[in-house]
Amino acid sequence: MKRAIIFYQSKTGTTKNYAQELGAYFKAKQIDTLCLSVEEYQQDLIQNADYLLLGCWTKGLMLIFQKPDKIWGDYAKKISVPENTKVALFATFKIRTGTMFKNMAKHFNHNSNISLPNLKSRNGKLSEKDKVILDEFIK
Ligand SMILES: Cc1cc2nc3c(=O)[nH]c(=O)nc-3n(C[C@H](O)[C@H](O)[C@H](O)COP(=O)(O)O)c2cc1C
Repeated sequence: MKRAIIFYQSKTGTTKNYAQELGAYFKAKQIDTLCLSVEEYQQDLIQNADYLLLGCWTKGLMLIFQKPDKIWGDYAKKISVPENTKVALFATFKIRTGTMFKNMAKHFNHNSNISLPNLKSRNGKLSEKDKVILDEFIK
């Protein structure tokens, strides 16, 4: 059975909800899935994970300077992505994500030549477009 692990950071619950909807989609695809807050991060949890999803709420000046919150960045820096683990990023936002995904990717140790799938949501719900991205990701 394939394994997925989802780490999120959420202040008011939207990103947590999005993470849980992502997790439910993986489970429906028969993937053994754990969905945890970044505060629960432990490196051994991601050993042997086939898929790692990292998500955060968008912090910026609404139109410019979007980046992940420092709490998320501090955890992301600790993550050492195993060689065969596929990574995707997700974020919730209100107006625009702008530089969010670029800045998220900067925070953790991965092969920067690989572009990571980006999933985003205003309301914390999984969209049909997200499902297409996820189907490609887990193929
Ligand atoms: C300090 C602060 C800055 C924010 N900056 C942005 C922004 O630059 N762009 C945007 O689209 N949303 C921005 N938002 C909105 C949040 O990213 C959005 O409401 C998010 O879904 C909250 O996630 P949470 O419920 O998981 O905490 C900001 C919110 C806060 C509190």
